[in-house]
Amino acid sequence: MRLTSNPLEAAVALLDGHLAALPTETVYGLGARADQASAIARVYAVKGRPADHPLIVHVSGIEALDVWGQGLPIYAHTLAEMSWPGPLTLVVNRTPAALDFITGGQDSVAVRVSAHPLTAAVLSHLVELTGNPSIGIAAPSANRFGRVSPTSAKHVIEEFTGLMSDDDVVLDGGECSVGLESTIIDCTGNHPKLLRPGAITADDVTRITGLPCPSGSTVRASGTLASHYSPAASVRLISAADLPHLAGESSNGPRATIGLLATATIATPAGIVRLAAPETSDEYARVLYSALREADALGLQTVLAIAPHEAGVGAAIIDRLTRAAHGE
Ligand code: TXA
Ligand code: MG
Repeated sequence: MRLTSNPLEAAVALLDGHLAALPTETVYGLGARADQASAIARVYAVKGRPADHPLIVHVSGIEALDVWGQGLPIYAHTLAEMSWPGPLTLVVNRTPAALDFITGGQDSVAVRVSAHPLTAAVLSHLVELTGNPSIGIAAPSANRFGRVSPTSAKHVIEEFTGLMSDDDVVLDGGECSVGLESTIIDCTGNHPKLLRPGAITADDVTRITGLPCPSGSTVRASGTLASHYSPAASVRLISAADLPHLAGESSNGPRATIGLLATATIATPAGIVRLAAPETSDEYARVLYSALREADALGLQTVLAIAPHEAGVGAAIIDRLTRAAHGE
């Protein structure tokens, strides 16, 4: 694989049917042309992802929404207008543009416009090079299936060295500013439904659309599997009140094998490795995945995680920590 910060290089690689790992404001994605079965097959192979798990199509702007989706409710357009480019994915009824190898054979397709300037530039180049204004890049998070999503180019290289080929590209756009995957909203019914929490909350969706936004849906979303986002270390979601007791327990064993992830207001008990001490929930989201990777790099056995407040992105952090904790 080639590491570059030139979006044109990534666009040309994609055009030629190769893979390009791309920065978004949420996490890095492993991109391929959404209209090319062979390139998409490689995405699944490199990720080790089951073929019936659908992919998100990244497009250059809101106009592409009606090319990939049809029969959209008004609230879907409102959400796109108010939140794109941004950390929001909309699941809509598909048109024939969304082929079975993107949607896992479902009648819906997930569409997103990322705010990251480099990925926006890749899409602009592709639009220009192909003359197709609605061209899509299918990109799941650039990690092996079930593992922690990458928030830097370095993480992508760690995940895929030996798996990506010499013609594939990793586009380095620095560290992701959000750090958690996009909010996914199911827009196939008469009101929005939250499929995956993220930086844009269900309350935000209600404020924007004036409609309720309950959780859950019948469509498949692998990011909603009970066990996902898992490092090799086992994650335990604990309360601040349990920390002294658990830290004391660890003093009987090899203490350097326990890590702590908690907001800065919580002190580190002696002998425990502090993985991150974010000041805010936004910072917590930004550092969460690199902290989990750090735990593995240090060979820790256990990560004790104290969740932030549930407000704002806090709900998404709690969602990911809960799934990471199930991954043991
Ligand atoms: O922030 C993100 O969304 C990142 C960046 C790269 O855009 N992408 C990402 O992709 O997280 P992935 O594939 O790791 O997670 C996408 C989730 C999966 O859980 C998938 O099942 C769900 O979206 N999904 C995709 N298409 C869907 C559809 N038609 N209906 C329901 N869920 C869908
Ligand atoms: Mg993923």
